[in-house]
Amino acid sequence: MSGVRIAGLTRRFGENTVLDRLNLDIAPGEFVALLGRSGSGKSTLLRTLAGLDPVELGEVDVPSRRAVVFQDPRLMPWKRVWRNVALGLDEPDPKARALAALSEVELAHRVDAWPLTLSGGEAQRAGLARALVRSPELLLLDEPFAALDALTRLRMQELVSHLWATHKPAVLLVTHDVDEAVLLADRALVLEHGRIAVETRIDLPCPRRSGTAEFAAIRTMLLEALGVHEPAAAHDLRDAA
Ligand SMILES: Nc1ncnc2c1ncn2[C@@H]1O[C@H](COP(=O)(O)OP(=O)(O)O)[C@@H](O)[C@H]1O
Ligand SMILES: [Mg+2]
Repeated sequence: MSGVRIAGLTRRFGENTVLDRLNLDIAPGEFVALLGRSGSGKSTLLRTLAGLDPVELGEVDVPSRRAVVFQDPRLMPWKRVWRNVALGLDEPDPKARALAALSEVELAHRVDAWPLTLSGGEAQRAGLARALVRSPELLLLDEPFAALDALTRLRMQELVSHLWATHKPAVLLVTHDVDEAVLLADRALVLEHGRIAVETRIDLPCPRRSGTAEFAAIRTMLLEALGVHEPAAAHDLRDAA
């Protein structure tokens, strides 16, 4: 198993230097949450790790087995759910593999459904199954729950936590939700001015509860790193970012 090693990664769009000699290591099996204001370069970093954005300057070592889940699950509406999950798989029985992954996300009953008949939460679970089926060593999640209602988001967080504990990929989760970061991650990072400006280990026992003093202390620290000093805004940074 290999982890992630990024050294001196620089990415520019014209005059705009989005990533500026960024260094970051992620250990195999480690769960890392990436926070940062809107436009700080989180998605650019994630896309680079996914191989969707070129490395112009710097070094990036990533495991070859990687999978990405975006906010929009991007299912192809003309393919049944299982075909979306099995897309590109080189397997003797792709449907069986897809079904196994769909069972893990509690979506086995929708194996033959059309994507447009899925709810938002179901579509996102299908997206997770499509990632899982590739047995990724690195799972890249770009605000995967941002478009879901609060209750569905909580269930998805539990599911991701369970899948991570079962399969132990390294995870990079981009989120604007500080609570989500503290709930799920081993380590939280704040991206600012193209670098990791703040990082903190989250050594809280699992399952975590947001009511504890330790939880609140880490949350407050991260919020302040993001420039949010108002406790009332703790639950959602969407407006602040
Ligand atoms: N393909 C692109 N061409 C030009 N500018 C881009 C491109 N992708 C991202 N950017 C710019 O890079 C910056 C970081 O974007 P992004 O990584 O999407 O931020 P975040 O995910 O943190 O909100 C923004 O200023 C954005 O406008
Ligand atoms: Mg983004």
